[in-house]
Amino acid sequence: MEVLRIRGGRPLSGRLRVQGAKNSVLPLLAAAILGKGVSVIRNCPRLTDVDASVAILEHLGCGVRRDGDAVSIDATAPLALDVPEPLARAMRSSVIFLGPILARLGRAELCYPGGCELGPRPIDLHLSALRTLGAEIWEGPAGLRCAAGALRGGEIALAIPSVGATENAMLCAVAAQGTTTILNAAREPEIAQLQDFLRSMGAQVQGAGSSVITVEGGAALHGGEVTVMGDRIVAATYLCGCAAAGGEVELEGVESRHLSTVTALLAEAGCAVESGEGRVRLRRDPETPLRAVHAVRTAPYPGFPTDAQAPLMAALCTAQGTTLFVENMFSSRYRHIDQLRRMGARIRREGRVAVVTGVERLHGGELEAHDLRGGAALAVAALGAEGESGITGLHHVFRGYADIARDLTTLGADAEISEKK
Ligand code: EPZ
Repeated sequence: MEVLRIRGGRPLSGRLRVQGAKNSVLPLLAAAILGKGVSVIRNCPRLTDVDASVAILEHLGCGVRRDGDAVSIDATAPLALDVPEPLARAMRSSVIFLGPILARLGRAELCYPGGCELGPRPIDLHLSALRTLGAEIWEGPAGLRCAAGALRGGEIALAIPSVGATENAMLCAVAAQGTTTILNAAREPEIAQLQDFLRSMGAQVQGAGSSVITVEGGAALHGGEVTVMGDRIVAATYLCGCAAAGGEVELEGVESRHLSTVTALLAEAGCAVESGEGRVRLRRDPETPLRAVHAVRTAPYPGFPTDAQAPLMAALCTAQGTTLFVENMFSSRYRHIDQLRRMGARIRREGRVAVVTGVERLHGGELEAHDLRGGAALAVAALGAEGESGITGLHHVFRGYADIARDLTTLGADAEISEKK
């Protein structure tokens, strides 16, 4: 079993180009099946969730070729219409294939996606969006069967600005005759990038980034191309690492405005943050402890991202004062708290609320990741902790971090992956 070993308590110093964004590349890969031709996705990060998506594309009948950080997907040939159980379970967000398969073939079969460490991950909004476009969907014990004689445009009003449901609606609406309007759409930057990719394929989509997205569907789509944006959550993670350990880091290849709610709170905690074109720099004097911030409340974009909640909590465990966390997006996104307590953190949790009271220093320990961002948060805490930490459960972390040990080493940390004896 692999272990991420970090010897903490030393300031960071370094510059890093941040990997491509997991939460952009996954819908982009699914979108590629909409085009009868070859699509090219550049700056594609090497992640296990990407591997899982590629396995689904190949199962469907696409030709997939990787050339460095570029992935080309040939979706010319007729495609299969099912995502079988092992592939669907390998990746929680395999539901994102439902819309594009239905759009391309008029039918789709999907086993229920894998369980998730964050609590229930309902897909009711995805299904109601597709039904609005004319899909008939049968929900069986093992999964879903969908059929659509003729998809037609309609008005989709999302009760929650769900990222996945917005993406699935867009990916199906491009094949629906007429106009589709998505109201209360998610506004994440990854949605705007999906719009750009769809446009490069010949689709007519507008409004991404706002709460109202309009799609003029029905055009035959060809292959497109796109360069994946930098991963704002990976960037936020490493900034939190520098906040925890002290020192100075500069991250390139990411838009500072995409993580402005995170950098604002890190500045409030006493870090010096500088933003420039495609880069963010953070500095924290190791001799000056962080200050607690009043409250961290997660919300849909442009609010504070739920994915950065755990990394920020890890950094604020040694901030002077008390910070209130309210996790509004997922019901079980505090599994890192027990592990942080093992390092000496003082955290009380009641439901969606967690109260962090800063301590002088954390100490290293043998820790286990239980989900993707919670695992990354343990690395953040280990960077600032006294002594050595060993983090297992890395299969969670490798879903979203291409090479966390290499990245942290580049930023000046003493980090390596070793085999657990
Ligand atoms: C996306 O998940 C991201 N994943 C998540 O990142 C991220 O945390 C989340 O958006 C919120 O920003 C990808 O993009 C692959 P949602 P998604 O639908 O689309 C409820 C990470 O760590 N909901 O916006 O699944 C849902 O339960 C991952 O990188 C319904 O009730 O999130 C949640 O409470 C974790 N019914 C809220 O909406 C639905 O049909 C927001 O979820 C769909 C969602």
